[in-house]
Amino acid sequence: MTTIDLFTVSDAERERAVAHAKSAAAEAAMIPDIPADTPLRPIRQVAVIGAGTMGGGIAMALANIGIPVTLIDANPQGLERGIQRVKDNYDGSVSRGKLDPAERDRRLALITGSLQMADVKEADMVIEAVFEDMGLKQGIFRDLDTLAKPGAILATNTSGLDVDAIAAVTTRPQDVVGAHFFSPAHVMKLLEVVRAAKTAPDVIATLMDLGRRMGKVAVLARIYPGFIGNALFRNYTREAHFLVEDGALPHEVDAALKKFGYAMGIFAVHDMAGNDVGYQTRKAQMATRPTDRRWNDLILKLCYLGRFGQKSGKGWYRYEAGDRSPRRDHEVEQFIVEESARMGIERRPMTEDEIIKRCLYGMVNEGAKLLEQGIALRPGDIDISYLTGYGFPAHHGGPMYLADRIGLANVLADIRRFHAQDGFWWTPAPLLEKLVREGKSFADLQMTN
Ligand SMILES: NC(=O)c1ccc[n+]([C@@H]2O[C@H](COP(=O)([O-])OP(=O)(O)OC[C@H]3O[C@@H](n4cnc5c(N)ncnc54)[C@H](O)[C@@H]3O)[C@@H](O)[C@H]2O)c1
Repeated sequence: MTTIDLFTVSDAERERAVAHAKSAAAEAAMIPDIPADTPLRPIRQVAVIGAGTMGGGIAMALANIGIPVTLIDANPQGLERGIQRVKDNYDGSVSRGKLDPAERDRRLALITGSLQMADVKEADMVIEAVFEDMGLKQGIFRDLDTLAKPGAILATNTSGLDVDAIAAVTTRPQDVVGAHFFSPAHVMKLLEVVRAAKTAPDVIATLMDLGRRMGKVAVLARIYPGFIGNALFRNYTREAHFLVEDGALPHEVDAALKKFGYAMGIFAVHDMAGNDVGYQTRKAQMATRPTDRRWNDLILKLCYLGRFGQKSGKGWYRYEAGDRSPRRDHEVEQFIVEESARMGIERRPMTEDEIIKRCLYGMVNEGAKLLEQGIALRPGDIDISYLTGYGFPAHHGGPMYLADRIGLANVLADIRRFHAQDGFWWTPAPLLEKLVREGKSFADLQMTN
């Protein structure tokens, strides 16, 4: 058992967690080597490339604060669909009484569609949001290098591609930065600002400020697979999937996560998003991935079975027509049990405590690695990213804050136990070991910044 009750949080503790989040959000705006009075580049006009899910949402986030946007797509249908989605979103807000019709019209008038890349020429900032493909993005940045005006900020909304490799195809890498929005981009509060090797300080300062103006919490990250948020999320989902292979059923993992405070369990989330999200990348990685560690492929196998999630009426759960509530499905549970046997795993019952620890400590250990490599500046930046972008329960204050509350020595003892059981993925982060040796907590690192 952990030293604290992970499922019941007192009012006083809840207040402390919320206060921590508030100060973490304020501190995230401070970048040690970029003075607060750094002159910002003026952002009067923005171009967004790619009118898909993200491009449309980013255009709305900008129009919502009065910035004119040119929304550019290479494909006429893509552009039409994108503009229509923006209209539908604003209309939805009007019909829910959340937006005045005149304000909707004013915002819509700020968004102009275009099929011409050359229409970036007036933009003070260009935000690229085309498909997640390095060759495609590099091609766009080559064009931007010739078409964008001097001094324009060139941002990419990549979810995890190497921003240095994108910057390298331009003659102005100092102007290139990652602007990682979350979906839906006009709603989600997190903006990861990704600092590439040559990004100029005033580009960072300007994007951080723009994030704040859009009502978001901007968090600085360095280049790393998945930056801050998705790096933690990868560890969280991996453990959830291993738990299922090791003996838990999807509804048991989800029930523990909900009891911990998440609005939805991870398997219900997968079914909602579609189990085929990331399918191509996973398949491509299978051929070359290292063989010295355990991998989880159940989600791919569910896709082979046509279990894509809500959209196909079945995934980790089954769904009745017109109803999104997940229901246990004997068929998939049987499949999971057979898969464990096929992998030679002897299934065992999983306690709620083990479920939460494995999902949480995977993130904490990764968070410590991000800190020691300088990918994240402070533990609070990790907490606020996870609270605002990934639905981490507010009353727990973020994964690093909660780890401190549990006690890092306790966390490390469990990580060592998991490491002995499961190997590679649980290799303890040297920073975590160091903090425990010195009797310190993550909060001690926060203060040194
Ligand atoms: N969907 C998400 O949840 C999410 C979250 C964060 C980041 N991202 C990243 O944002 C980017 C866009 O993702 P999305 O989900 O909006 O994709 P999407 O498939 O919805 O839209 C991509 C759009 O780009 C357009 N496009 C393709 N090639 C183009 C070109 N050469 N010039 C102009 N337009 C072009 C397409 O026509 C399409 O409309 C990706 O890099 C993705 O990894 C996505």
